Amino acid sequence: MIENDFIPSSYAHDKEQGRVQWKAPSNIALVKYWGKKQNQIPANASVSFTLDKCRTITSVEFTKLDKVDKEFSFDLLFEGQKREDFKPKIETFFKRIERYIPFLKNYHFSINTSNTFPHSSGIASSASSMAALSLCLMDIEKQMVSEMNPDFFYKKASFLARLGSGSACRSVKGSLVQWGEHDKIVGSTNLYGIPYPFPVNDVFKSYQDTILLVHKGQKSVSSTLGHDLMHGHPFSEKRFKQAHDNLIRLRSIFAEGNLDDFMEVVESEALTLHAMMMTSIPYFILMKPNTLSIIEKIWEYRRTGKKHLCFTLDAGANVHLLYPNNEKKEVEKFIKEELIAYCENGQYICDQIGFGAKKM
Ligand code: PMV
Repeated sequence: MIENDFIPSSYAHDKEQGRVQWKAPSNIALVKYWGKKQNQIPANASVSFTLDKCRTITSVEFTKLDKVDKEFSFDLLFEGQKREDFKPKIETFFKRIERYIPFLKNYHFSINTSNTFPHSSGIASSASSMAALSLCLMDIEKQMVSEMNPDFFYKKASFLARLGSGSACRSVKGSLVQWGEHDKIVGSTNLYGIPYPFPVNDVFKSYQDTILLVHKGQKSVSSTLGHDLMHGHPFSEKRFKQAHDNLIRLRSIFAEGNLDDFMEVVESEALTLHAMMMTSIPYFILMKPNTLSIIEKIWEYRRTGKKHLCFTLDAGANVHLLYPNNEKKEVEKFIKEELIAYCENGQYICDQIGFGAKKM
């Protein structure tokens, strides 16, 4: 598909008003997306686990305006409170997608959104929130056309979400989602995320992700700026090649359930992401001392117990612990005894691989 396939030619039905509601999950990248071209086109392909419990729930009420407005007309409630400070982000998103959702200026939208994970927990909500909002808009569009097949619905929802926040395109479907053109991955595209197209061993179908909340404050450097710093970065080309090669490596790892190799790729990807931050100009560090202490502890745990617990990191200080479901008991004990001390107020979130967004 190409971008123009997402521009509707006309709408068969006129809707006066209505309400839609979707919940969309967060996701955690295994091969990271860091660096982009214009229009949210990734510099390299990536793959992620869709999460289950960390979600955004968004409802959109829409009412037809008497006349088409020059501006977008919407209000925004976050967890029941009016948030003027969140509006510019939605405004930017609407501008980017107006070409593909031409009814945007014909309606007033009341957007009501909330997260299942604590606000300002340091967990980025942009992926789940942009995915949930995109699905709501697609649901409205679906009501205006005579027929829309589910495949197109989800592809366009992911396409729109990508224009809000790149990684959001991986938050529409589950449970492993691939995004970005890759010569060895059939159906891969820069435009939207696709369900991982190769065999996946059962061990990954119930994989656990416990998120240790190391630092709950705002990130000191936004991911927009971080992506930008990959332009002219001394290691960028090598890094993009590494991501490409890691995706090839993962194909047999996913198929065979080779957890030792899985851990190596995933931890190397996490550390490379942060290495890119530390070696850009200006350079910056998002990890905190406790992030490193946790990593040390995980490696120690593996040395003694030979277990399949590994970590990954987002663009922040929190640590995602990834492990197979059958090791859950031991890992939980280890978290309580050894890792909780490094979490802000002892907080962590137990999540697991999930199966994508749902209409409510
Ligand atoms: O979607 P963005 O622009 O917030 O970028 C996300 C980048 C990482 O979370 C660090 C990596 C990824 O692939 O999700």
